[in-house]
Amino acid sequence: MPHIITKKHNSIKIPSSCDGVFFDFIAHCEKEDKICVQVEGKTFLLTKLEKNGNHLIKLDATTKIAPIILAKKALHAYIALSNCEVISSNITIHNTKLEPKKEYLKDIEYFVGEFKTTKEICVEVGFGSGRHLLYQAKLNKEKIYIGLEIHTPSIEQVLKQIRIDNIENIFIVNYDARLFLEFIASNSISQIFVHFPVPWDKKPHRRVMSKEFIDESLRALKIGGSLELRTDSPLYYEYSKELYETYCERSEIFKNKNLEVSSKYEDRWRRMGKDIWDLTIYADKISNSIILDKDFSFHGVNKFSFKEIQNFLPLKPIVENDYVVHYTYSFEVSETKGLVHVSMGSFNKPFCVYIMIDGEKINYFIATPVPTSTNKKAHKLIEKILFNGGN
Ligand SMILES: C[S@@+](CC[C@H](N)C(=O)[O-])C[C@H]1O[C@@H](n2cnc3c(N)ncnc32)[C@H](O)[C@@H]1O
Repeated sequence: MPHIITKKHNSIKIPSSCDGVFFDFIAHCEKEDKICVQVEGKTFLLTKLEKNGNHLIKLDATTKIAPIILAKKALHAYIALSNCEVISSNITIHNTKLEPKKEYLKDIEYFVGEFKTTKEICVEVGFGSGRHLLYQAKLNKEKIYIGLEIHTPSIEQVLKQIRIDNIENIFIVNYDARLFLEFIASNSISQIFVHFPVPWDKKPHRRVMSKEFIDESLRALKIGGSLELRTDSPLYYEYSKELYETYCERSEIFKNKNLEVSSKYEDRWRRMGKDIWDLTIYADKISNSIILDKDFSFHGVNKFSFKEIQNFLPLKPIVENDYVVHYTYSFEVSETKGLVHVSMGSFNKPFCVYIMIDGEKINYFIATPVPTSTNKKAHKLIEKILFNGGN
């Protein structure tokens, strides 16, 4: 995560700009500031907090940005504008290095709203070093490959490789694979690869593979399409086998099958003489199409000041059947304006977001929740709490 540690210094003037980086507003809470910044058309927040008598300024974790060079540019501009004394940093910009191929990095919104293709679509979950994804895309140029990953360095690495190999049929998405398929049209995907997912033996609820993931996969897959799991974990194997036997009509299991390409991870595993299992299920039915309710606007006029809202927001998480709403922090910009940080949506995979309250207007700030059913229910509850003064 790009960051700088500096001697304590005063806030920068807002609004201000430097080298094409625009600083829009600062929102404060007791412990830290959120600095709103725009770089190359993208908006995100920097966090400024006190650490060991110094200031730490870093990328805000909720408004994550990719490629990471944008955050580095923002921090460079911050240093120039604040004239602060930098103690340490990890934001060197290597201009000589090959820039990642950014046009192949897509936001989740692209798949919720715009994505259309007549080509065959394959999805790889947690591509890591990307060996399998890159190999498949080079081999099958007529198909589109969507690579899902949550580890930013892996994403940057694969984007660079896409550029080096001049690959044109991959989209990379920095998104949790457990939620991604909800937005994909029914009967549209040919193959879903889940190779060596994190086993999460102590926290099985965090596993990618679940009844919900299988249901969504079977809905999104075309007839004859497959969900292919490859794992070295005996526990993950047993767990997935049981899921397949319970919820799937047609499945195949192989032990120690050789694929044309193996990942670094797999190579290491094989050298240790460990077993590897392939568990594949196939879609056999046409699934109903999905209708996404994408309206996450706040319907109503806010009648409370930002201070009043801060006072009535519940401090504890509100846990309903399958969803959660947890107001974590609020950051004041002025008497009437501020940001509220909320964790919302599915209980097992909550999504963090900011809500901007600006006088009578309320809206999600930067990222709007994606239209999952649990986000929708959480949104309705947030709306009720904000418009009814906490009741
Ligand atoms: C053990 S590595 C395997 C990487 C690669 N598939 C391979 O075979 O070498 C698991 C990868 O899945 C990614 N990952 C874990 N949970 C994920 C999720 N919910 N959505 C997308 N990627 C995930 C991790 O960041 C990691 O890169």
